[in-house]
Amino acid sequence: MKIKNICCIGAGYVGGPTMAVIALKCPHINVTVVDANTKRIESWNGPLEKIPIYEPGLADVISEARGRNLFFSNDLKSAIEKSEMIFMAVNTPTKTEGEGEGMAADLRYIEACAKDIAKYSKSDKIVVEKSTVPIRTAEKIKEILEENSSNIHFEIISNPEFLAEGTAIQDLFKSDRVLIGGDETESGQKAVQALVDIYANWIPKEKILTTNVWSSELAKLASNSMLAQRISSVNSLSALCEKTGADIDELSKAIGMDHRIGPKFLKASVGFGGSCFQKDILNLVYLCKYYGLDEVAEYWHQVVKINDYQKDRFAQKIIDHFGGDLSGKTIAILGWAFKANTNDSRESASIMISETLLQCGAKLIVFDPQVSLKQILSDLKNYKSSFDSNIYDLNKKDLQSFDKKEFDCVAITTEWDEFKKLNFGELPLFDGRRIIAGNKITYKIGS
Ligand SMILES: NC(=O)c1ccc[n+]([C@@H]2O[C@H](COP(=O)([O-])OP(=O)(O)OC[C@H]3O[C@@H](n4cnc5c(N)ncnc54)[C@H](O)[C@@H]3O)[C@@H](O)[C@H]2O)c1
Repeated sequence: MKIKNICCIGAGYVGGPTMAVIALKCPHINVTVVDANTKRIESWNGPLEKIPIYEPGLADVISEARGRNLFFSNDLKSAIEKSEMIFMAVNTPTKTEGEGEGMAADLRYIEACAKDIAKYSKSDKIVVEKSTVPIRTAEKIKEILEENSSNIHFEIISNPEFLAEGTAIQDLFKSDRVLIGGDETESGQKAVQALVDIYANWIPKEKILTTNVWSSELAKLASNSMLAQRISSVNSLSALCEKTGADIDELSKAIGMDHRIGPKFLKASVGFGGSCFQKDILNLVYLCKYYGLDEVAEYWHQVVKINDYQKDRFAQKIIDHFGGDLSGKTIAILGWAFKANTNDSRESASIMISETLLQCGAKLIVFDPQVSLKQILSDLKNYKSSFDSNIYDLNKKDLQSFDKKEFDCVAITTEWDEFKKLNFGELPLFDGRRIIAGNKITYKIGS
């Protein structure tokens, strides 16, 4: 089956970049990305410097494909109608109420998508799960599609996304692997092949892995959990280093040189953030509990607990440095995005750290090259509004020339290159990239 028209529901961090790359690499396929958020679609159609997602290289891809065979639209109905293949790239956050609250994935957006697909489909469709979902979600999607339509065949396949924000375009150009899970029926295998053919336009065949649906769904949760586990493992050891005089950077290097372990994801940090790791591990924990595997659930839960511990430990270091009271102290927070090269601040460690510091009476000056002050304030929305006036952002120019005397200390919470060039003189510096260093908290960046 040759696909000529693709629709993607969800124009976010995954839907936007993945569809842009498919359109770029497959000029013979029309790709339409739709979203319930009309403002987001407007920005995707607006000036390149204002597209809603900051990702190195993304603007170039959009510039080439947009208007040629890549379209951003609010017309969900016609995009569904004309497409043979529909990707679901909507958000699947942690549930905030009801059964599984605080742990299970909230599938309401997936369900809404499925209802829309059923409502507007007039011919058979291949539905692709691009969002990260709990194992056996395809079953639920099929049920919804069949309940809300008649005489249409829907084939559900799983194609989880492994891109990392900050390197999304490179990850999509040169994926380690593309995973596609489908039913072992004839129609299931045809659907899998249709998607394999799309990726084969730029991904070597040996990197396209096909499995059954359940392995594919679970592989995404398992991959994120394993990656986060490495971070929590090294972060837990950073605490032991501080007690014993070992140096976590030296330790990481020594461990990572073992080729069975490897050097990646072994840097101590202020803790992982982002919209995926925590929610995906919690989802895995919930699934394990659901299936009565309490020990397995507890094993994975510890990865999240160590992460919270690490964020708190970082904030506590600053508080302890000033004897427990931050009243009258001004702290520069460098970095609000959850990692460098993205404008995404979801679950960023900066949020929890800043809340803790504000609670202790600090005044904060926040800088991030890509995250706006509006977003920073919205991330701190649960915080008492009286503290809002204590938060400022600095634009790039100000950062280069700010008066160091304005601050009592500097905390680096995101690894932006911009910060590596700065020299803070003798100002106490708490560097999240190097949370340890015993009592050695005052040193020059780059020294
Ligand atoms: N962000 C990542 O790095 C990443 C990587 C791999 C996988 N994922 C997974 O991909 C999925 C999407 O993540 P994201 O970061 O792109 O989320 P996002 O919040 O940036 O984007 C989701 C978009 O879907 C839209 N949407 C929600 N319900 C809709 C509906 N019914 N109809 C139309 N539009 C709707 C929202 O308005 C939003 O713009 C999640 O399941 C996530 O776990 C994310």
